[in-house]
Amino acid sequence: MAEEKITEIKVQDHKSYAITGKIKIIKPDGSEEIKEGTTYLCRCGASGNKPFCDGSHKKIGF
Ligand code: FES
Repeated sequence: MAEEKITEIKVQDHKSYAITGKIKIIKPDGSEEIKEGTTYLCRCGASGNKPFCDGSHKKIGF
């Protein structure tokens, strides 16, 4: 029996969501992007590259 693959979302303390596994991101313009491995999504609102974390959480003291 094949092992079930589960995408994991880790809520990191004072920084991004770390998502490990294959995901599809659908952007506001309707374009799609497939990501594998670990993807870091912004949860502080300060990223200049949303929806991805660009490290700006450090500058704002999130
Ligand atoms: S969580 Fe890193 S820039 Fe927002």
